[in-house]
Amino acid sequence: MSETREGKIIKVAGPVVVAEGMTGARMYDVVRVGHLALIGEIVELNGDLASIQVYEETTGLGPGEPVVDTQAPLSVELGPGLIEGIYDGIQRPLSLLYKSEGEFMSRGSTIPGLNREKKWHFKPTIEPSAKVGPGDIIGEVQETTLLTHKIMVPPEVEGTVQKIDEGDYTVVETIGVVAGEDGTETELKLMQKCPVRNARQIRSRLAPNKVLVTGQRVIDTFFPITKGGTACVPGPFGTGKTVVQHQLAKWVDADIVVYVGCGERGNEMTDVLTEFPELKDPRSGEPLMKRSVLIANTSNMPVAAREASVYTGITIAEYFRDMGYVVALMADSTSRWAEAMREISTRLEEMPAEEGYPAYLAARIASFYERAGRVQCVGSPERGGTLSIIGAVSPPGGDLSDSVVQATLHVVKVFWSLQGRLAYQRHFPAIDWLTSYSFYKEYLKDCFEDKDQGLEMEKLTVKAMSLLEQEAELLEIVRLVGAEALSPADRLTLETARSVREDFLHQNAFHKVDTHTSITKQYEMLKTILHFESQALAAIETGVETAQIFKLPVREEIARAKDIPEKDITKVAQIRETITEQMKQLKVADRV
Ligand SMILES: Nc1ncnc2c1ncn2[C@@H]1O[C@H](COP(=O)(O)OP(=O)(O)OP(=O)(O)O)[C@@H](O)[C@H]1O
Ligand SMILES: [Mg+2]
Repeated sequence: MSETREGKIIKVAGPVVVAEGMTGARMYDVVRVGHLALIGEIVELNGDLASIQVYEETTGLGPGEPVVDTQAPLSVELGPGLIEGIYDGIQRPLSLLYKSEGEFMSRGSTIPGLNREKKWHFKPTIEPSAKVGPGDIIGEVQETTLLTHKIMVPPEVEGTVQKIDEGDYTVVETIGVVAGEDGTETELKLMQKCPVRNARQIRSRLAPNKVLVTGQRVIDTFFPITKGGTACVPGPFGTGKTVVQHQLAKWVDADIVVYVGCGERGNEMTDVLTEFPELKDPRSGEPLMKRSVLIANTSNMPVAAREASVYTGITIAEYFRDMGYVVALMADSTSRWAEAMREISTRLEEMPAEEGYPAYLAARIASFYERAGRVQCVGSPERGGTLSIIGAVSPPGGDLSDSVVQATLHVVKVFWSLQGRLAYQRHFPAIDWLTSYSFYKEYLKDCFEDKDQGLEMEKLTVKAMSLLEQEAELLEIVRLVGAEALSPADRLTLETARSVREDFLHQNAFHKVDTHTSITKQYEMLKTILHFESQALAAIETGVETAQIFKLPVREEIARAKDIPEKDITKVAQIRETITEQMKQLKVADRV
């Protein structure tokens, strides 16, 4: 069993190495390649020939060097210490790599994913003679002020607990022992290893039914995503994909955020690495990192590690979901991931499909997004967890017919379409309200404690969206025959639609207050804009000029509602009173 299988390199092609003498090796086994023992993974087997994708720079590697099969699949280490972690695509701690190896980390480095020295205080939550099985929660570690790490029985371990003690442990020390029915004893540790290529076991899958609130108005109000839902953000260069992802990482009401920066420009990732640790969790005031894990692969890192980073991220995310948490994973950008797949496929000399991507591109994308969901977790106590995935896509030229966009749209339920035109006009977030969609709209109403308010919000969003749609048609008429052709009511429609766009949809990510809006304030704001519309319509019907209405000073207040802090939210409702008041005076003035 434990005899090492050693082959020899016969060919090196960029990130791909071919080795002979690999009889007995299995697909997806991790191997150590060459004298430097670079980390690689078998991605193709043909007789005793193995094709290996290497996660590190292969320069200098040559034929004849040894390849050793570790006989284990690519795995991540799961346990206390993950949170606040900043990793590369195969879970090597970046900060340590940088510290010990300088900007260019030395190759073949084997720094483990979880710190081996740090002690964690473990408190059992089960009795010492309990019967346990896979996924059962046996105790807790207070990992950070924001996260209680639940320690679970690894898959395939079942039996009666012989001993389990409260105390301070490193992740590799024994916290307890389980005796199986056949008498075998298994030591329990704080850490477990888990292969990354396949989804972790769940008991059952449930339909997502709660909105994952993001504090971003265009998203929550018009195109919401759910806890356990999937969304994609495609957009041309510079339209705000990364800003959207960062905003979500900061503001979503999730317990854990896993952020996979996949092959974006080097400096962009540096932003993430320097900016993230500075960010504060808005609810607790604690650093956001205390509930986050970052996976960072810049475009200057080897392409195979980029391919793996998505799997490393999702497996870590699933692990937290299995504790019963609400987890959100952001991947920026999945196009870079797909490009990594393409490059490796080319090196493997596989038959290319559209745009040179491998034929399995769509299947890989689908199986990634299918790892999202609301699930009943394995083990006791009974618990449900959710994992949402939000993937950015950067198609060349913003072309939505791109293979990666199309494959993604087949599986995700929410589409936030970023438009170059809107970004150019500095309308941010540049999410196109006419082409974006969400299949989860029906759950928005449940975000409100007050049922009637929820139902009213639903009506408000329908009304606002219909105004935006009418605006598009009316603008077409204006373009053809001029604004004079419009009735006063049509003019009001245009004006209200403009207000919905500018005073509601437009949201400045960099403004202290505007960066985040609670669902209740979103409701108040939209209600106020539409209150203006209904009052104005009534005034028009009594013969008041639209020009008079549009000049009302309260318009200014509506425009500034975004900057009213949450604690003064009643001021938004007060604007409605001012609207009614000023409209009344209008009528009086008009009659004189
Ligand atoms: N919500 C927002 N509020 C204010 N400014 C924004 C917002 N979204 C985007 N921007 C502006 O647009 C710029 C580009 O955004 P971002 O870097 O997110 O684009 P991108 O789509 O990720 O680009 P790339 O294709 O290069 O990855 C930002 O630097 C910022 O100035
Ligand atoms: Mg970007």
